[in-house]
Amino acid sequence: MYSRITGTGSYLPEKILTNLDLERMVDTSDEWIRTRTGITQRHIAGENQVASDLALYACQNAMQAAGVTSQDIDLIIVATTTPDMIFPSTACILQNKLGIENCPAFDVQAVCSGFVYALATADMFVSSGKCRNALVVGSEIYSKILDWNDRSTCVLFGDGAGAVVLSQSDQPGILSTHLHASGSHSNILSAPGSISGGKVQGTPYINMEGNAVFKFAVKVLEEVVQEAMAKNDLQSTDIDWLIPHQANIRIIQSTARKLGLPMDKVVVAVDKHGNTSAASIPLALDMAVRDGRIQRDQLVLLEGVGGGFTWGAVLLRW
Ligand code: ACO
Repeated sequence: MYSRITGTGSYLPEKILTNLDLERMVDTSDEWIRTRTGITQRHIAGENQVASDLALYACQNAMQAAGVTSQDIDLIIVATTTPDMIFPSTACILQNKLGIENCPAFDVQAVCSGFVYALATADMFVSSGKCRNALVVGSEIYSKILDWNDRSTCVLFGDGAGAVVLSQSDQPGILSTHLHASGSHSNILSAPGSISGGKVQGTPYINMEGNAVFKFAVKVLEEVVQEAMAKNDLQSTDIDWLIPHQANIRIIQSTARKLGLPMDKVVVAVDKHGNTSAASIPLALDMAVRDGRIQRDQLVLLEGVGGGFTWGAVLLRW
């Protein structure tokens, strides 16, 4: 028994914030943002939208593509760092919005690697025969945890959601999953606020040492891709599509260069989406499936790195 992605979906909020808009908000320039990050615009959720709202649209899209209904779903995993509330989990709130009763539903918190973590977890439920059709979602509203006066972070992120249906299959879909974490690097990327006495203590905004994050990301991404290749007796040049976490075009280009992959085998969405954390990989995947780039039987590698630090990869046959 195997697990295979049978449908993808995504949702981006209507409001678009361009680099030119940001020039009017903080001391920055379109040129600085584009050359350092590759980002030209990002989507921003409405004031009353929460992560489960974005997730709902993405899931409806994915279920339609897979040809299943809510009643076929027997597992929901939501990867998010920006949940609707402390509890219940965004997955439970989403389950109710989808009109599903009784299936297991939980959140995964692995920041920008969240989707890879969630997909690897769902694979264990589906390929072991415990579940037939899982909804795996990355949904984020980073606009709510950004300090809009801090130019070093507010230009980098965007909001959105992506989802897949992972179903039982007699043909291999997911070939291998690779997850890692190292809590000893938490100081270079965090949102260190906590809740105590009914109040937020410390800052809930993102705190980042950009250069250190950049170096760490490039190093571990290359390592985890090589690990996935070695495990499957493949060369990185065998990959048809690399779908990396969309944080920064320079991190993406650097990983591709180290792997000897031309950029026309790499799916890039960071220019239009910014960094949408756990949503970035399923958003990019859905884009490349819907525009016809990803074709049946192709070898696809998803990889991500994020706060924690966490990092990982999923290799699959489409
Ligand atoms: N506009 C204009 N100037 C800026 C801006 C801005 N938005 N932000 C910072 N600067 C300035 C800095 O103040 C600094 O000025 P100074 O030299 O006078 O002190 C100068 O630009 C250079 O700053 P650096 O931080 O050294 O710039 P760098 O080239 O490292 O680029 C960046 C910063 C884009 C954040 C880069 O380090 C990076 O991409 N790091 C990876 C971080 C990342 O992608 N994080 C996402 C979350 S983690 C993840 O998803 C893996």
